[in-house]
Amino acid sequence: MSASRPQPRPGVLDIQAYVPGKSSAPGVARIFKLSSNESPLGPSPRAIEAYRRAGEHLEDYPDGSASDLREAIGRVYGLDPARIVCGAGSDDLLNLLARAYLADGDEAIHTTHAFLVYPIATLGAGATPVVAPETRYTADVDAILAKVTPKTRLVFLANPNNPTGTFVPFDEVKRLQRSLAPHVLLVIDAAYSEYVERNDYESGIELVATSENVVMCRTFSKIHGLAGLRLGWMYGPAHIVDAINRIRGPFNVNLPAIEAGIAAIEDAAHQERSRAHNRTWLAWLTEEIGKLGLEVTPSVANFVLIHFPTTKGKTAADADKFLTRRGLILRQVGAYKLPNALRMSVGTEEANRLVVQALAEFLGGKR
Ligand SMILES: Cc1ncc(COP(=O)(O)O)c(C=O)c1O
Repeated sequence: MSASRPQPRPGVLDIQAYVPGKSSAPGVARIFKLSSNESPLGPSPRAIEAYRRAGEHLEDYPDGSASDLREAIGRVYGLDPARIVCGAGSDDLLNLLARAYLADGDEAIHTTHAFLVYPIATLGAGATPVVAPETRYTADVDAILAKVTPKTRLVFLANPNNPTGTFVPFDEVKRLQRSLAPHVLLVIDAAYSEYVERNDYESGIELVATSENVVMCRTFSKIHGLAGLRLGWMYGPAHIVDAINRIRGPFNVNLPAIEAGIAAIEDAAHQERSRAHNRTWLAWLTEEIGKLGLEVTPSVANFVLIHFPTTKGKTAADADKFLTRRGLILRQVGAYKLPNALRMSVGTEEANRLVVQALAEFLGGKR
């Protein structure tokens, strides 16, 4: 059939475009943005300094293979830099993996409340997203395996997951990998791994090192506080790194991002400060919001998922309006099939206290 105008490939118009968290509230002067899981401590001062220095030679192309950055990451984690690829955010890498490993008619599995980029990347590659149910807001290995068909080529696992904050223990991730056929690619998205302080968690590095069908994606947008620069990295087997390097943009990571990324990954003290802040306030928010009578899904990341009643006037949408009027911007998660919940990033002490106080007022003076 000849069309009267250019048509995107099948699947593209089935994509619900990603809607980022809100960043403003009409008529409110002071905003606390708690909608995108950014770092309340911001980047390392050394990263800001490196970024400024990079500004002095913007006329130069960056090193297309980001080798200094890959070497710095390799030093910090004890990894072979040749098995690292950097990208313009981990979004870039997730999309490249989908483009390289999915074709028309293939299937890629993700779980019910998984990160929205997975179905977007899958449909963009002409493949079909297949949704595996979760158990208590957590990815369920048996449910994922039950969705595998001869068409399955890729499984996306966010660990920890956004927006639920839950994680899959390492034993279970290993069982998933062992149970998948060797031609199925397991993509472990460990965007929040630096915050996790659980003995039964592993970010994916060990599994990548010991298998041929696993990659791990990481980001500089969260604990490193560099979301605005768009920087991520993946670690994978040599054959997958080779495939991704063939299709990525030749200069997909910009010069200031490379320079700031090196300074950020080397500043262990700053990462530890961010982790310590998160440890304190994640526990505090979970407890204080719980005391108000709202259910909070136990989180190991830098955000909490807060569940609201369906009673008129007390819903998640009502709470969102109430908080937004005070400049407290949380994330509505209806697009994640969680219409009765809001996601809140762990913020500064001031922001965290203001949210708890505002929620208490919203619920009717229970405190
Ligand atoms: C699970 C997950 N993966 C990946 C990303 C994307 O991160 P980046 O900013 O590196 O593209 C996010 C961002 O919110 C995320 O929540």
